[in-house]
Amino acid sequence: MALNTVKIPSIGFGTGTAWYKGDPDTIDDKLVKTLLSAFKHGYRFIDGAESYGTEREIGAAIAQSGLSRSDLFISTKILKSIGNPEEALRKSLERLNLTYVDLYIIHAPYFTQASHGIELEEAWPRLEALVDKGLVRALGVSNFRIEHLERLLKVAKYPPAVNQIEFNPYCQDVQTVEFCRKHGIIVEAYAPLSPIVYYKGTDRPVDSVLDKLAQKYATSQASILLAWVLSQGHVAILTTSKTERQEEYIKASEIKLTEAEISDISRAGQQVPEFRKFWASAGHKQSKPKA
Ligand SMILES: NC(=O)c1ccc[n+]([C@@H]2O[C@H](COP(=O)([O-])OP(=O)(O)OC[C@H]3O[C@@H](n4cnc5c(N)ncnc54)[C@H](OP(=O)(O)O)[C@@H]3O)[C@@H](O)[C@H]2O)c1
Repeated sequence: MALNTVKIPSIGFGTGTAWYKGDPDTIDDKLVKTLLSAFKHGYRFIDGAESYGTEREIGAAIAQSGLSRSDLFISTKILKSIGNPEEALRKSLERLNLTYVDLYIIHAPYFTQASHGIELEEAWPRLEALVDKGLVRALGVSNFRIEHLERLLKVAKYPPAVNQIEFNPYCQDVQTVEFCRKHGIIVEAYAPLSPIVYYKGTDRPVDSVLDKLAQKYATSQASILLAWVLSQGHVAILTTSKTERQEEYIKASEIKLTEAEISDISRAGQQVPEFRKFWASAGHKQSKPKA
């Protein structure tokens, strides 16, 4: 998938959520082993963030993998340090043991002059300067809604290449996705497995559709959820500590759902109120599964 001039793999391996540890100076050996296993199974895109505290693990796994830098797609995020992006990125690069990242993402739009000492319109040009310095190959955003993207597009010399958002059948964010499509912004879907991992509603209209398609394609519900994301042309960001799941999920791009099957899943997901696991309290629309 093309991302300005940079190619982005369609599946990224996440190091947040279950791996989140905050402290950037310790090393979780289990995560290093898991990343090495992910590389072995063909994952080349790793998703990090300054806040996850997992950049040292990513760096250690890259160093031990024997893979060449140019074959990898490494992404990290900034939010806490948004007031000084160059200093923050240089710290991330030191932890990653890299000279550049492929993608640098603003983790969320929830910062202001009052909270972080900077507004979005001032922060973005500072990130663009990092591209010009060769420290970053492409810029992106995360958890941005239309209002935030509109503000950004007014000032951007380099428009965001991606918007990493929660996206799965119970959280379709249709308007944001449409806006991204219209403006050539790639949607990176995080929590793609939410309907089988996080969603606890008793009314579960997506399950039976997934069951039917899992039988048809001789695969699991999880792989059908990933195929639903990928078949719509989006990127999926997933994570798992299990090697057998790593092996299965990387093959999800081989499953080509028909337009009708994509719609069946989408329609089923829309039968219940949108369920959002992340960032709801920060300002994203709060919603709960039906009791
Ligand atoms: N930008 C943001 O604000 C933001 C927010 C959230 C996430 N993310 C990124 O997206 C990545 C993925 O997010 P996510 O962890 O929510 O996504 P996910 O891939 O949808 O869910 C991962 C979780 O599902 C479990 N799992 C996988 N397959 C399963 C199955 N068949 N049955 C039951 N459980 C299963 C995994 O546990 P096992 O280890 O047991 O497989 C893991 O804990 C994060 O690591 C992070 O990099 C970004």
